[in-house]
Amino acid sequence: MKHIIPVTFFLIAYCLSRSSASLFFNTQDIILLVNDSSTLTLTLTDNVQENVTLTLNTNHKDLLTTNVSKINVSNYTITKEWPIKLFGHDAGHDLLKVETSDPSIESRNAFVRVTLQHSNELALISVIVGWIYFVAWSISFYPQMYENWQRKSVVGLNFDFIALNLVGFILYSMFNIGLWLPEIEQEYLARNPRGHNPVQLNDIFFSSHAIFATLITVFQCYFYEKGEQKVSRTAKSILSLYGLILAALLVLVYQQKILWLDFLYYCSYIKLTITLIKYIPQAVMNYKRKSTIGWSIGNIFLDFTGGVLSILQMIINAYNYNDWASVFGDPTKFGLGVLSIVFDVLFFLQHYVFYRYVPQLLFCIVHVLAYCMFTVL
Ligand SMILES: *[C@@H]1O[C@H](CO)[C@@H](O)[C@H](O)[C@H]1NC(C)=O
Ligand SMILES: *[C@@H]1O[C@H](CO)[C@@H](O)[C@H](O)[C@H]1NC(C)=O
Ligand SMILES: *[C@@H]1O[C@H](CO)[C@@H](O)[C@H](O)[C@H]1NC(C)=O
Ligand SMILES: *[C@@H]1O[C@H](CO)[C@@H](O)[C@H](O)[C@H]1NC(C)=O
Ligand SMILES: *[C@@H]1O[C@H](CO)[C@@H](O)[C@H](O)[C@H]1NC(C)=O
Repeated sequence: MKHIIPVTFFLIAYCLSRSSASLFFNTQDIILLVNDSSTLTLTLTDNVQENVTLTLNTNHKDLLTTNVSKINVSNYTITKEWPIKLFGHDAGHDLLKVETSDPSIESRNAFVRVTLQHSNELALISVIVGWIYFVAWSISFYPQMYENWQRKSVVGLNFDFIALNLVGFILYSMFNIGLWLPEIEQEYLARNPRGHNPVQLNDIFFSSHAIFATLITVFQCYFYEKGEQKVSRTAKSILSLYGLILAALLVLVYQQKILWLDFLYYCSYIKLTITLIKYIPQAVMNYKRKSTIGWSIGNIFLDFTGGVLSILQMIINAYNYNDWASVFGDPTKFGLGVLSIVFDVLFFLQHYVFYRYVPQLLFCIVHVLAYCMFTVL
């Protein structure tokens, strides 16, 4: 069974490639402004045996139209290239496809993914914002390491948080790196034939670096003064539960009930649940100690910056691509962003208000003002 499907695909592909012409556009991705137009070329590589109709289709006529919707090709037709004009009417994503009346024409690659945006400037700002939060999140590990090193102690840093973080980033890296493995990318593209690989290179960099940085913190926990701290039984149970789930999923992969692709998606869902809970033990610990000493507030500033900017980017993109569903309809990304901001605010309050003296409160206000000015400038 395992080999039948690839072999069949191969035979079909072989027959198609032998017997007939193929159809494609000069590009597969295009960005178009609202109320703007652009020209593409559709090419047919070979003569046709009989008369064929090519039909151009878009999914959303209110977003995208073409000046040609049908092309008649006969064996007399000399030109095998047609210029096609695209008109963008509204922001969003659409797909231009070509269907042929002759199934022997290879038209699998005859599609164009069209991104319709309100503004090129906003698209650029979105990219810049993306890079800033990538940097903020990547360096957010270092203030804690520095503080541990300076104090030669990790007293006050919660070990459950570190354990959850480490497991979370390992799962996230597995997802990111996995989707770049050619076999799994093929599984993804077979399921989403006209899609893009959702993982970008900087996702791989971010998650691998996060493992590295968390491991350094783990080593610090071995070598520096740590008092009575250890990973709690609750955290161990939660991690064991995740381990059992992953083992069960691996069995399913082995039995070919699910694909590796599904396995990796489950890893990413587990990572989401970890993000949901990972700050709780630290917040509780600060509460019990009535102190945040040992827990770096620099880390929280950077995490907060990253969280705010990532939400800002989602909002910019939602406006630019008229895609508010991705913000409010997808609770994972937006919800997690908001939740981590809520935790950051809680940590600010613990650090500057609840467990500090009044002079520190003044210091806090100055700090926040300076921070706001820095952000605005
Ligand atoms: C696009 O054109 C329509 C009609 O001409 C106009 O109402 C609309 O404001 C324009 N949109 C943009 C973004 O220029
Ligand atoms: C094919 O198209 C040509 C030119 O468009 C036409 O003259 C011919 O009658 C068509 N043949 C058939 C079988 O439809
Ligand atoms: C293509 O052929 C159909 C009939 O087969 C005809 O109705 C239509 O007008 C033709 N289109 C063009 C652009 O020649
Ligand atoms: C086109 O096809 C018709 C019948 O299908 C045939 O009679 C004619 O010779 C062909 N023309 C060319 C240029 O191949
Ligand atoms: C569609 O637009 C292209 C590019 O402007 C033009 O070359 C082509 O002739 C147009 N086709 C029709 C059927 O108007």
